[in-house]
Amino acid sequence: MSYIDLTHVTKRYLKGEHAVVPLEDATLSIEQGDFFALLGPSGSGKTTLLNLLAAIDRPDAGDVVVGGTSLVKLARGKLAAWRSEHVGYVFQQANLVPVLTAYENVELPLWLFPLSRAERHRRVSLALEAVGLADRATHLPKQLSGGQEQRVAIARAIVADPPLLLADEPTGNLDHESADGVLTLLGRLNSERGKTIVMVTHDPRAALHASRRMHLDKGRLHELEGEVAR
Ligand SMILES: Nc1ncnc2c1ncn2[C@@H]1O[C@H](COP(=O)(O)OP(=O)(O)OP(=O)(O)O)[C@@H](O)[C@H]1O
Ligand SMILES: [Mg+2]
Repeated sequence: MSYIDLTHVTKRYLKGEHAVVPLEDATLSIEQGDFFALLGPSGSGKTTLLNLLAAIDRPDAGDVVVGGTSLVKLARGKLAAWRSEHVGYVFQQANLVPVLTAYENVELPLWLFPLSRAERHRRVSLALEAVGLADRATHLPKQLSGGQEQRVAIARAIVADPPLLLADEPTGNLDHESADGVLTLLGRLNSERGKTIVMVTHDPRAALHASRRMHLDKGRLHELEGEVAR
């Protein structure tokens, strides 16, 4: 058994009489410590796949097992607690709360845990240091650059120290330099902290940072071997 096992997963949406099938009989294994990149055209189901791994959505058929837990069998009432312990999610838009400082945004996921104020402070400071933004703790999102906002979003995703990081186009809105900063950071979280990473990207340069690449199109997953076209 791998760290992540999708077995014969189908996900469909009904739009009127028309069915959209972003995943059809998809089977995929990801090992602990993999840095996995998922490529594919717009609308091909990449976010759908991340949402299944985060237990935000459920498949219509098949099973999704993460760290030995079947997310299909897990009771609905237990999903939020499972997610907060196991998954850090970096959304395509940084999705920071505009009226909260960088520090307070990173602190948010910790309110789900019974931690002392001192322990929360320790963890938020560590997460902000890890993304190189300790000196921006009191800034509001609008006082940060796009790359900095994305790094705050990464700090928020790692603050509870989850083993799995999901990143949906984390460099989609960034220039080359900021994108490289974010990708280097993800690479370090993978190699130094042992995080398993599943990253969605349109960008072949970003995909080169991953140890494994797959392409999703028309409901099907295909392994991409070796070098991706730059
Ligand atoms: N809640 C929903 N209800 C109906 N259809 C949906 C829903 N969510 C996604 N879809 C459809 O499923 C397909 C896959 O969507 P998804 O968001 O996973 O694509 P994506 O690969 O992430 O695209 P992008 O690169 O543009 O973000 C699309 O055709 C989309 O319209
Ligand atoms: Mg998407």
